[in-house]
Amino acid sequence: MGRIFDWIDARFRVKKPHGGFLQRSLPGKVSYWYCLGGVAFTLFLTLLLSGLLLSFYYVPSGDEAFQSILRITREVRFGRFIRSLHRWSAHLLIIFILLHTVRVVVHGAYRPPRELNWLAGVGTLVVAFGSGFTGYLLPWDQKAYWATVVGTSMAGTVPVIGKTLLYLLRGGPDVDGTTLVRFYSLHVLWFPLIMSLLLWAHFHMVKRQGISGGL
Ligand code: HEM
Repeated sequence: MGRIFDWIDARFRVKKPHGGFLQRSLPGKVSYWYCLGGVAFTLFLTLLLSGLLLSFYYVPSGDEAFQSILRITREVRFGRFIRSLHRWSAHLLIIFILLHTVRVVVHGAYRPPRELNWLAGVGTLVVAFGSGFTGYLLPWDQKAYWATVVGTSMAGTVPVIGKTLLYLLRGGPDVDGTTLVRFYSLHVLWFPLIMSLLLWAHFHMVKRQGISGGL
């Protein structure tokens, strides 16, 4: 492995500019609890990869979405496995982000100078919930449809901006094909892009500030 890395490094040159980061010493109290963020990141990568594979077969249209999901599950080779991998990774991502947040709270790692990183983290949590909500509609079955009717109706009860918010989410007064395309766009383009930017900022700050020392 070392020789392969050296071969790549001779061309890619990451070791020298990033040497300080790759070889820095960690605070003595770092433990397995500090791996929770890394697990969340691994799950995010799994979601990206399985989502890319699902996008080969999923059709984001009111007429074909449900059938395309059936096809993925019943006919496409490894389709059921990839779909389950995507769903389980999504559930686990939420759980691990929350566990990671608990770790950060217990260790008081949200305190200065890490308050901006805390906010970037809150952003990732909001985007993860948004991704879960938009992804839930995509199978376009009864459960998905009614969950979205209820969820978007709740947004409609927000004072002052509620109606605008409801129209913005649904793409009109009702949940229909336009809503499906809108949720698909948010789910596969907007949210992964925003999540990637937030995670870049999150990791950049961890890199620059170093990891906190724990209790
Ligand atoms: C997809 C979501 C997230 C990923 C992949 C992620 C990943 C990471 C990783 C790998 C670290 C390095 C140390 C560790 O793992 O504990 C870290 C640190 C940190 N994270 Fe996250 N994180 C996420 C969400 C959050 C959330 C929701 C919060 C809080 C609201 C948060 C706040 C922090 C803070 C303050 C640190 C610095 C901790 C320290 O220096 O001890 N993160 N994150």
